[in-house]
This record gives sequence, structure tokens and C-alpha cells, in this order.
Amino acid sequence: MTERAPPIRVKHEDAEAFVIELLEASGLSRKSAEIVANGLVQADLRGVESHGINRIPSYLARIRNGVLSPKAEPAVNQLTPVVAQVDGSNGFGFCAAHLAMETAISMARTFGIGMVSVKHSNHFGMSAWIVRQATDAGMMSLVFTNSSPALPIWGGKSQLMGVSPIACGAPGGDKSIPFILDMAPSVAARGKIYKALRRGEKIPSDWALDEDGKPTDDPEHALKGVMLPMGGPKGSALAIMMDVFSGVLSGSAFAGGVTGPYDMSKPGDVGHFIVAIKPDLFMTLDEFKERMDVLYWRVVESEKMDGVDRIYFPGEIEQLTEAERRKEGIPFVQSEIDALNAEAERLGVTKIQIMP
Ligand SMILES: NC(=O)c1ccc[n+]([C@@H]2O[C@H](COP(=O)([O-])OP(=O)(O)OC[C@H]3O[C@@H](n4cnc5c(N)ncnc54)[C@H](O)[C@@H]3O)[C@@H](O)[C@H]2O)c1
Repeated sequence: MTERAPPIRVKHEDAEAFVIELLEASGLSRKSAEIVANGLVQADLRGVESHGINRIPSYLARIRNGVLSPKAEPAVNQLTPVVAQVDGSNGFGFCAAHLAMETAISMARTFGIGMVSVKHSNHFGMSAWIVRQATDAGMMSLVFTNSSPALPIWGGKSQLMGVSPIACGAPGGDKSIPFILDMAPSVAARGKIYKALRRGEKIPSDWALDEDGKPTDDPEHALKGVMLPMGGPKGSALAIMMDVFSGVLSGSAFAGGVTGPYDMSKPGDVGHFIVAIKPDLFMTLDEFKERMDVLYWRVVESEKMDGVDRIYFPGEIEQLTEAERRKEGIPFVQSEIDALNAEAERLGVTKIQIMP
């Protein structure tokens, strides 16, 4: 089968069960395995395949190389009634971020706001799943992280800042959907280049520069070069902002010191910054929801420019993709399925279930 063959589809429940088994066989507790698997499958459901279950082989390689602790349990240190710190203890970033948001939500329920800084963590995948944790609990949120060097500062030519996503959200009203913004400060997320490499595809030539500082459509050369910041200096300023709030503030690595998820030499030491805010602080919840409805409809019904069929609210395309994939399954290419099954074989776990 070639990379252009029709996709192989997997039910999201089967993808999740498969990943839980792989992670448990790798030493994670059932609870931690469920959190990681859920975060990864949510990315696949939302069409963010660059941060889905295809990341599993690299995470498991980190465990085998002794740079990611499968048994680590994140711990909360409550500092004030509205401020806590989570020590990720070099476990999966998914578990540290999930605990941080759970803690932030609980503080926000009582005091209106909860702020949690996370240190000594690792990659937590797609930020939107942590924003979802908040919107599902009826909370607004900020979800920041830093990440390994990939992006030059505007005017620079070497990798310094991470392509660190800035994410935030708010629950919708009865006639709208939640606002979920989750965007990398680069023209495109680096995971999309890894995905193109896995799939044997080209990339748009405005995403990255190659090792000689020239635009490239070849993912292999792009990964040896630098990602381009979105909006020039504004994109690299947002990447610095993620590092200030997630790295400098938390006590984790910063200023180019985070180790990337594909670098097997040492722990990631990633920092995150997570805030939950109660939406009915300044008015009733009904009023807030009605105002979100007004905002949603003003946005999606605004006058369209030439060539545009539909205007979407942030997070809406992903929500529509999720609804379709919950019914039709998640599409993969054969090489991705093979890489996942190679892990299953290594760990003595049943292969991933494919839809007929
Ligand atoms: N953990 C990490 O270190 C890390 C690093 C980089 C990226 N990521 C993840 O990679 C993912 C991809 O990031 P990205 O910047 O490439 O995302 P993207 O460009 O696909 O989307 C960015 C945002 O724009 C919105 N959007 C996109 N097209 C739209 C349209 N036509 N109309 C209205 N809204 C639209 C999306 O809903 C989303 O909120 C994110 O989930 C991010 O969390 C994670």
C-alpha cells in the first residue's frame, strides 16, 4: 500500500484502549495511562493529528532511554488560596497539566480564579484538550506552555524559542459553541512538519527555512532549519511570552533550555502556566452565556469576503471534525499503523483494532 492509499480508520474508543494498554505495559498507572490516551485521542478527533497517538513511539522511546519517568506522579503544592504549583516530577506532561487544571478549577469554583504554575514537566500534546477540561467544567481558562527551541527571534537566524502554543477558552451559551483558541506562534506547528515527514508529503514553502536559511518545501530540511514565526516580530514575541509565564516563572527550563520530545538525551523540564476563571464573576451565568451567544453569531454571520463560504468561530472547525470522526473513525496511513503495531509487538500488547 502507498502513502496515497485511502486512509485506514480506527474507532476513537479502540485507539484509546490500545494506547492505554501500551502505556500500562510501559509502567504507567491505569489513571495516568487514561489521561495521556484521552489527551492524544482528543487531538486525533479534532484533526490535530500532529499531536495524536502517532506521538506514542517517541514518548515510549523517551521512557526506554530513561529520560521520561513512567511512574512519576505529579504533586500539588498549595501556596495561597488561589495559587498552587504542580511538580511534574519528569512524568508525562499530560498528567501534570491535567492535575494543574483540576486544581485551578477547584480554586476558581470557591474563589473565582485559580492559577497554577507547573515545573519539571514534559510535552502535553495539544493544548486544546486542557482548555476543554475547563470549558467542560463551565470555566474560562488560559493554557500556556514553553517548548524546545525551534523558532528564531525576529531578526535572528538560529533556533531559540519554542513553537509554544498559546491557548485559552470560554464556555459557550445555549445557542453557541465554546470559544477555544489554540495556536502555535509559528506559521504552522512543528508537529505538522513531522507529520508530513512520516507521510512522505511536501510542506508549504512559507512554513520554515532549511539549514542554509532558505525557504523549503521538504520536511526533512525544514526540521534541520528553523520554523518561521507568524506575523514576524509579533509571533516571536508571543513565543517569548510563553517562556516568561511557563519557564521563567515556574522554575523550569527557559531561554532555549527545554529538551524536545524527539531528543532522547535528557528530561524535557518543560513549564506550563494554567489559569481557570469563573465566568459568572461580574454578572449571572445566564447573562454571560447570552453574551457569548451574541458574540458567536456576530462572528459567524459577519459579511464574508470573496471566495469564503463560511466563517468559523475559533475551535469550530476542530469541533466539526470531531463530530465527523466520532462517527466515521480516525484516519491513519499504513506507516503510522505499522509504527504503532511495532510498539505493541515490543510490549506484548494486542495490535490496534482497524475498522472493517
Ligand atoms: N505542546 C507543545 O509544545 C505544542 C507545540 C506546538 C504546537 N502544539 C499544538 O499544535 C496544534 C496546532 O497548532 P496550529 O497553530 O498549527 O493550529 P491551527 O493553525 O490549525 O489553528 C490555530 C487556531 O486557529 C483556529 N482556526 C484555524 N483555521 C480557522 C478558520 N478558517 N476560521 C476560524 N478559526 C480557525 C483554530 O480553531 C485554532 O484555535 C495546537 O493544538 C497546539 O496546541 C503543541
